[in-house]
Amino acid sequence: MAEKILDVRCDLKDQEKALTGARVIQEGGVVIFPTETVYGIGADVENNNACKKIYAIKGRQPDNPLIVHVADLDQAENYACTNRVRMFRELAKLWPGPLTIVMPKKDRVGDVPSAGLGTVGIRIPDCDFTREFIKLSATGIAAPSANMSGRPSATRAEHIINELHGVDLIYRGEPSRIGIESTVIYPQDDRCIILRPGAYTADDFSKMFDHVEYAGPQDPVRSPGMKYRHYSPEKELLRAKKEDLLNFVETHRDIIPIVTTETAKEIKGEKWILGSIKNPYEISSSLYDLLRQLDASKYHRGIIECLPETGFFISVMNRIKKASAEL
Ligand code: TXA
Ligand code: MG
Repeated sequence: MAEKILDVRCDLKDQEKALTGARVIQEGGVVIFPTETVYGIGADVENNNACKKIYAIKGRQPDNPLIVHVADLDQAENYACTNRVRMFRELAKLWPGPLTIVMPKKDRVGDVPSAGLGTVGIRIPDCDFTREFIKLSATGIAAPSANMSGRPSATRAEHIINELHGVDLIYRGEPSRIGIESTVIYPQDDRCIILRPGAYTADDFSKMFDHVEYAGPQDPVRSPGMKYRHYSPEKELLRAKKEDLLNFVETHRDIIPIVTTETAKEIKGEKWILGSIKNPYEISSSLYDLLRQLDASKYHRGIIECLPETGFFISVMNRIKKASAEL
């Protein structure tokens, strides 16, 4: 493998290592980096040719815009008209964190990363090392999730190493703490439209906005990316509620159950454990890893347990539904 790999930790601002990546970005290269949600594959947002490499490496459709990752609020101002978002100051208190705010864009965002849209999604990731790398790059980093288009996002560096080719540098950090992608919102006056659910949920925004709604599949204001196939393992994956799942695995031995710690106690044969229902991040941070394990395993198919659709589990179920078919 040609690319360079550097080991990093999210809580350590290792300047020397951060500078290595910053130089790659300034020279128009592509860097993979950890965040608290999933790994990102990034290039200089002001360099269209560098951003084109990301689309080529991922096999991503050119009409799907990239999120711009910045180190701080000053840098956000370079790319978005934040003063046109009434609740911006309040929303910005949720940064660094798993939130992408779609706002009217400024000219410094290239046509390639913005996919020709008049808006830009901005995020400050909650990883000290990555923010240091972005700061030293002295530009915004346009970055989608670091996976081939359609595959589950990468939550561990080893997910990427044999999947993406043509990358200049990989920062190998710890597994992603949250494990599903950021919440993407489109705030409009007193309305907050959730384009993609994530760790921040409607509850977090209903304190700030009169109206909070999830964009539906027919909604004219939706994320271009949501129309594409997503998050899917290559093997067949079914989903079912606990009781139906238990009945099914009783009579079908060829399928691997992917279940909560609590449900696992009721299954005699082999099973894979998502995590405890009492610890939502344990579940979300293992989800994509298990979907990828299914593809690598001897099993031809899997069946995953449906979670109660409240709070953060709404977001986790959003990904599970996209990756699976109902039993
Ligand atoms: O957690 C995350 O958001 C990760 C990490 C790396 O930050 N990034 C990520 O990027 O998930 P990506 O490209 O895989 O998903 C971004 C989603 C896509 O569905 C895209 O269409 C949407 O956000 N998006 C980006 N810019 C947008 C814009 N200006 N308007 C509407 N949707 C936008
Ligand atoms: Mg993605």
